[in-house]
Parts: sequence; structure tokens; C-alpha cells
Amino acid sequence: MRKSYAIANWKMNLPPEGSASYFGSLSGSVPSGVSVVVAPPFPYITACVGAADERIAIAAQNCGPEKSGAFTGEVSAAMLRELGAKYVILGHSERRNVFHEPDALVAKKLAQAIGEGLTPVLCIGEDLKVRDAGQVAIFLANQLREAAIDSLGQGEVIVAYEPIWAIGTGRNASGAMVAETVAEIRQSLDRFWPSGSGERVSILYGGSVTPDNVADLVANGNIDGFLVGGASLDPGKFKAIAASLAK
Ligand code: PGA
Repeated sequence: MRKSYAIANWKMNLPPEGSASYFGSLSGSVPSGVSVVVAPPFPYITACVGAADERIAIAAQNCGPEKSGAFTGEVSAAMLRELGAKYVILGHSERRNVFHEPDALVAKKLAQAIGEGLTPVLCIGEDLKVRDAGQVAIFLANQLREAAIDSLGQGEVIVAYEPIWAIGTGRNASGAMVAETVAEIRQSLDRFWPSGSGERVSILYGGSVTPDNVADLVANGNIDGFLVGGASLDPGKFKAIAASLAK
């Protein structure tokens, strides 16, 4: 069953007013029919779980590929679940590009997250070279095929389409462009993921989403919500983005 999501990705930042005041501003304004999720850096998960209204869920921004063991610096999906996280962002382009995470590692993390009952938000997206070469559908199909692990059918997985050229650049994709790519993603989900995935999986758009550009994306993008970076640090902006998805 597809759902609408507004997911805030704080990245390695905190909202300037602090998390208590941030969640204070969000509480009471969760739009009907929209699942609101906030992804703080690891050390703040517990405080955010405590500060969030019961209708706001907390996500981690990453998890380790193993359950436990000699993996210095890693945090397991099981630990995140114990802290109260319900979601985990995986395969973000910053993880893939800055920290060189290959598809196979993202797939292992996906298996860990699903095994621990977290809902993964799997990020996929092309760079400008791929788009200019007309290779978007095949590039994204490949990312989805590489993530097609056996346990996919066991719980919900959200896909976030985040074109790399639109992340943090102030340059967002148009609704029409996103709709075309979302249709291609749904075809690939049907082809490589468990049967019915094309219809069932919620697909979000991310990349320079602000209150000023959501109208076109909501009206024409054929998406189930947003993964928001920069603008999510301002609760007023994040609230307005979530409100644009209200049913
Ligand atoms: P942005 O980031 O909204 O700052 O472009 C989106 C993301 O990376 O998830």
C-alpha cells in the first residue's frame, strides 16, 4: 500500500534552534494522510525520539551492513531499532559518492534493515552525465536490480528518486521530468523486485525541494512524497512541504 511521506534529512547538521524547539514547531501540524519522518545524525536519535510527537517517526541516515562484530565506527540496524528509529535512509548519493559505497554494500545494509524491522528509504539517482547521455532509465534500473535482495517482500521499502544534479544545488527537476522517471522506476520495480512492487512501492522525490517548488512536483510528478535536505532544517519550510502533500 502506497503512502505519502515527508522525510527530513538533516545530514550532518542540526536545526539552528535546537531539536526540542524544532519538534515543538512541528507538533500539532502533521497533515492528514502524510507520514512525517525526521532523520537526525546518529547521536541525536534518542533525544529526537523523545521530543517528537507520536505522529512523527525518526529515521537514521545510514546503518552498518552487519548485525554486530569488529566493525569500528559502524552502527547496526538492530541498535537503531533499539533507540527507537523506525526508518533508515540507505544508498544516499553522498554515501555512494563521497564514501564510495558500492551497490553490493547498499544491498547488505538493506537486508540488515529489513531483518531488524526498520523501513528502508532506498535512494537512487543519476548524475548529469547519465541524464545528458539519455541513460537515466537503464542507470536507475541497474541500481534497483542490484538492490533486489531476497527479503524485499518482507516489509515496506520506500524508494527516493534523487537526481544527483539536483541535490543541494538549488536546481530541482520539473514535475514532468520526475513523472517520466517515476514511470520508468515503476517498470523496473516490476521487473526486478517481488511481484506487484511497481504498484506497491512509495516513490519520493528529493533534490532542492522547497515550499516554492513543491506545487509542480505534487501536481505533475506522480510522486508519493519528498525527501528534503537543506529546507528540512527550517521547521516552517518543512511543515509547508509536508502540507503540500495533504490529501
Ligand atoms: P537537498 O537534499 O534537499 O538539500 O537538495 C536532498 C537530499 O540529499 O536528501
